[in-house]
Amino acid sequence: MIAGLYTNEWKRTLRCGEPRASQAGTSAVLNGWLRARRDLGGIIFIELWDHTGVTQIVFSPEDAPEVHSRAKDLRSEYVLAVRGTLRLRPEGTENPAISTGMVELAAEDFVLLSQSGLPPFDPDNAESVSEDLRMKYRYIDLRREGMQRNLRLRHKAVQYTRNYFDARGFLEVETPIFTKSTPEGARDYLVPSRVNPGEFYALPQSPQLYKQILMLSGVDRYIQIARCFRDEDLRADRQPEFTQIDVEMSFIDEEDVMVLVEPFLIGLFKETAGCDVEAPFPRMTWREAMERYGSDKPDLRIDMSIVDLSEAFIGGENPFAPIIAEGGAVKGLRLPGGAGMSRKELSDLEGRAKELGGAGMANFQIKDGTLKGPLVKFLSDEASSRLTEISGLTPDDVLFVMAGKRWAEACEILGQIRLELARGRGLVREGWKFLWVTEFPLFEWDDAEMRWFAVHHPFTAPMDRDAERLKSDPGSVRSRAYDIVLNGTELGGGSIRIHNSELQNAAFDALGISPEVARSRFGFLLDALSFGTPPHGGIALGLDRLVMLICGAKSIREVMAFPKNQKAQCPLTGAPSRVDPSQLEQLYILSTAPQEE
Ligand code: AMO
Repeated sequence: MIAGLYTNEWKRTLRCGEPRASQAGTSAVLNGWLRARRDLGGIIFIELWDHTGVTQIVFSPEDAPEVHSRAKDLRSEYVLAVRGTLRLRPEGTENPAISTGMVELAAEDFVLLSQSGLPPFDPDNAESVSEDLRMKYRYIDLRREGMQRNLRLRHKAVQYTRNYFDARGFLEVETPIFTKSTPEGARDYLVPSRVNPGEFYALPQSPQLYKQILMLSGVDRYIQIARCFRDEDLRADRQPEFTQIDVEMSFIDEEDVMVLVEPFLIGLFKETAGCDVEAPFPRMTWREAMERYGSDKPDLRIDMSIVDLSEAFIGGENPFAPIIAEGGAVKGLRLPGGAGMSRKELSDLEGRAKELGGAGMANFQIKDGTLKGPLVKFLSDEASSRLTEISGLTPDDVLFVMAGKRWAEACEILGQIRLELARGRGLVREGWKFLWVTEFPLFEWDDAEMRWFAVHHPFTAPMDRDAERLKSDPGSVRSRAYDIVLNGTELGGGSIRIHNSELQNAAFDALGISPEVARSRFGFLLDALSFGTPPHGGIALGLDRLVMLICGAKSIREVMAFPKNQKAQCPLTGAPSRVDPSQLEQLYILSTAPQEE
């Protein structure tokens, strides 16, 4: 079958999702891809698809015999222009599930614009094939309603973002992609410089340093829809290249960032998904989030929280007493309605707690009015009733109890158990639960490297009242960093930055970064800070994660047109790939990678 010319007469008069019952009797030209095809008693039905939807097209041997005869050779994903008359579908054959479902186009003529090879999968059944296959043939995967909707929603989110920040005096500034390594904690992607032998650019992990420099350049309010690159282990909500809504402001504090971002998110959800979001967003310190939910990104759709039960286990013969005596803690998690759990379920859960690194997890229940459980025999009556009282245990529930040498240890494990139990038992409520988490620790200790690391990044300011302990007790210093969390996902994070060189040097010192190293890595920033830096701060929101949550997608790959797979490869183009040895030579690079088979 030979493809025809796309002449003026074949230009579409309607998109495939537009025909309606009110247009019955009018003629129309549709352009699109052939989707489903059925032959029924000599009549050929096809669905013609474009990004707006599908219209049923009918080729009848009686009405247009020559056209019908040519239509027999049409196959899936062929591109066509079809002319015909719109008419109401015969009674009983309407499809109210689609917008064009009341009508069909009786074909009078068509032109084949291009053929298609046999598609590797049917776009309508893409969910059933492997994700790598979908990514390899991404153009076919994208030819379906769900993916098109995600792309449109993402576009809308970006438009909304630009308008929101523009209306508030923010300037969109593009920062370089070839840059110097910025310290966000992941590995850099490096780009060799041909004209500077042996030297490399780093792709930005974020525009952090540039946006700070823009503040001391007097830009005052900066926004960028910024592409970022991080060489880290990939997960459902992580890609090697991703997009941030990156914001920085001068002469502000934490409150200014929060009152800017809250209405932005509320408006974004309304605009893109038509959802009303509960406001104001609650705020919680990092310490409270860890204590109550065992996570720095708690999912507040789950009505279960961790309680401290140490006082019930102090002293006496119980196995937790020595752990408390050595500075540890005992934590409890009540599962409402858990009383019916079988022995096997309970022991599986104990196994899971061990897998997560816990020494053991005990359980308590109230049966026949008294507290029951393997550890009850070690508890005084008073301790038993305190345990019941603090945990709020009822005869319908089960209480899981765990001790940890550090308070956070038991909390983190119970926090994970909380998530798994709630997901497994359908205890996660519908809706959007935003949360600000504040007062993160400034530093965390790394046992392997035996030194302190910045939790956020080294430019985050300490809380004023903690700054004096930078040297003497770095672990106790809280930062002026904040995260915005949605339904248990970290959507964004930011901080108020250090704006004077002495404090910045003290922070580097506490991090064990010598003045020489600090100068070689960030000399340009330290110099810049010495030329009049306004107090400033900002935030970056993960655009992909935001759109993923709004779309209800399981992974950010679903909201990116051309994502990488779990091995950071692009199955469509085959990137990354080996390059010609002469290219490497020009770049002064000698590869030590094993030879290709
Ligand atoms: P942070 O590193 O917290 O902060 O990143 C901000 C947000 O970016 C998103 N994000 C990612 N999304 C997809 N894939 C990834 N690999 C990935 N890594 C991060 C997350 C995260 O919350 N410069 C600071 C911001 C600031 O201080 O203003 C920064 O980048 O949603």
